[in-house]
Amino acid sequence: MTRILLAEDDDMLRQMTRAILEIDGYEVFAYPNGKAALDAFEQINPDLVVSDISMPILNGFQLLEAVRSLRSGSVVPFLFLSALSEHDDVYNAKRLGVDDYLFKPFQPQDLLIAVKSRLERRRAAELFDSHQAHLQTIILLANVIEARDAYTRGHVERVQQSALELGRELGWPLEEMIILEFGALLHDVGKISTPESVLNKPGLLTPEEIQIMRNHTVAGAHIIESVPHLRLAKPYVLYHHERWDGTGYPEGLAGEKIPREGRLMAIVDVYDALISDRPYHKGITPTEAIRFLRRGSGQHFDPTMVEVFIELQLKKLRDE
Ligand SMILES: [Fe+2]
Repeated sequence: MTRILLAEDDDMLRQMTRAILEIDGYEVFAYPNGKAALDAFEQINPDLVVSDISMPILNGFQLLEAVRSLRSGSVVPFLFLSALSEHDDVYNAKRLGVDDYLFKPFQPQDLLIAVKSRLERRRAAELFDSHQAHLQTIILLANVIEARDAYTRGHVERVQQSALELGRELGWPLEEMIILEFGALLHDVGKISTPESVLNKPGLLTPEEIQIMRNHTVAGAHIIESVPHLRLAKPYVLYHHERWDGTGYPEGLAGEKIPREGRLMAIVDVYDALISDRPYHKGITPTEAIRFLRRGSGQHFDPTMVEVFIELQLKKLRDE
């Protein structure tokens, strides 16, 4: 249940405010001054603070400042209830980092709207934070893999960017895009199990080494499967070396039997490999790489997707 800490010295107003919030389903902890509210703060750990400005012992501003200095209170939304005569004070409060204020007397509906919008903003920010934290961990992991592979420096981040561009252009929904971002970063995660001697071997690989190299798709899928919140990215890892005509690996799937995540990843992955410099050959130009993709349409690549990707690249070239 959402917990609201309320500080208001006027008994009537405190009871009324509490009642309005409780009827709407909030759990309210009400105190007659800033000091009592502050003392209770850490134990209650509220989701939001609603506070009067002029109160005995500790006023609203002092309460705000004290709450902001607590570790658990640095980001909690803070809503002031103020008398109209305190208009200038409220302006100052804005600078102190108060989130919103309501002038007394207020309508119950105004209070509920202000509370709800503060809480929603807070939740959206939290969600964004945890997504960002998650993403940073994945980027770290991807960079660890890449560091072992001299061929792919910078590849992972570029592939992530152009995979997102292609997904957006194809109109994939937001949930898909979130998974796409992780998938693109992690597509080669299985290379963590490829021996360095094979990974960085100059010259041609033996048939046996080719098998070992190819195994990064299946190995990666196993790694991904063991982490519940990454599992959805598995098709990117497992199927990015499948080919439209069925000659790819690991399963030799053809056409739309290949999950679309794999079809997208194949295009983006190959394109970046073509235009990148490698220790033993220089990358080809984007124009040449586009020609290569076009030749592979319907053989290596999903013809519809590759056309969208080519259009995107051509547009970029024109804009340059
Ligand atoms: Fe790969």
